[in-house]
Amino acid sequence: MRAEIAVIAGDGIGPEVMREALAVLDTVGELFGHTFTYREALLGGEAIDKTGEPLPQRTVTVCRSCGAVLLGAVGGPKWADCARRPEQGLLGLRLALGLYANLRPALLRQSLMDACPLKPEVAAGFDLLIVRELTGGIYFGKRGRADGAAFDTEEYTEEEIARVGRVGFEQASARRGRLCSVDKANVLETSRLWRETMRKLSAEYPAVEYGDMYVDNAAMQLVRRPGQFDVIVTSNLFGDILSDEAGILTGSIGLLPSASIGDGAFGLYEPVHGSAPDIAGTGKANPCAMILSAAMMLRLSFGLRDEALAVENAVEQALGLGARTADMPLAGTAPISCARMGERIRAKLTAVAR
Ligand code: IPM
Ligand code: MN
Repeated sequence: MRAEIAVIAGDGIGPEVMREALAVLDTVGELFGHTFTYREALLGGEAIDKTGEPLPQRTVTVCRSCGAVLLGAVGGPKWADCARRPEQGLLGLRLALGLYANLRPALLRQSLMDACPLKPEVAAGFDLLIVRELTGGIYFGKRGRADGAAFDTEEYTEEEIARVGRVGFEQASARRGRLCSVDKANVLETSRLWRETMRKLSAEYPAVEYGDMYVDNAAMQLVRRPGQFDVIVTSNLFGDILSDEAGILTGSIGLLPSASIGDGAFGLYEPVHGSAPDIAGTGKANPCAMILSAAMMLRLSFGLRDEALAVENAVEQALGLGARTADMPLAGTAPISCARMGERIRAKLTAVAR
């Protein structure tokens, strides 16, 4: 197939991990006979530097003209005091593209047991998916400052909750059939509407075992017994926080990919980790999350299941053979660079696919 992909390398380690992901895609193209064309676009800090705004209109146009978007990371201390922050660009892009559901899969690979901070018997092969609402809630509500005070507001409509709720139920149906909705309904009115809406929706999915949980408890249960979760569906804020927590349970947040989707096949794919300005340019970044995000793109936007699986297996095998960047140290082996990690994954990919 031929596919056009919008590529937003972004800030910090974004360009470094993107380089490896594109090289992996080129290898996939050669091995499976596809042509991927990349169209670069600006976002975040780089966009502020070059155009004065975090989300140039051209970026939205380029993204809309492509089948999918790959994104590295945005943000950094350089732009912390800008009137319009880089992060606004990312939030604005998700909104402009109608990507209301964010899928963040987290699983413990056998080869990374040693890197997981939990005891082996507690972690024992968990495999969960966080579905995060992405274009509403407190990240998009009215905020401001007045007279030495500041406020942020959270609003959700039933429709916003139901559409991401459906994604949760559908993902659960396709997995192990269990959905946990996470909220703070003992305090927040938006959470009470969230819970009500999810419970109503659950009647339409009798094959899915539905439950709800308060977010403070969920944060604890994630480290107490992560294996109890299949799919978690939650609001923008809670999903942001819980997915970082789930990330470290996999061994490193540098392993966690994500897919932001809306109503069609179009999607935006980005690692959950940020721009990591402290290690940018040092070659220490872990390209796995970016590469695994590209695999999600192959599967979800382009329907290339075998290709996605081949990439995922290649990552798994490279890790299994002890290829580790500095964020996931393995006793007795020296950490390798971002570029070397990418090479090792491509070598495995070639070996697997042939
Ligand atoms: C994420 C990031 C972003 C978010 C930031 C950079 C705006 O933390 O994708 O998890 O909060 O969505
Ligand atoms: Mn985050």
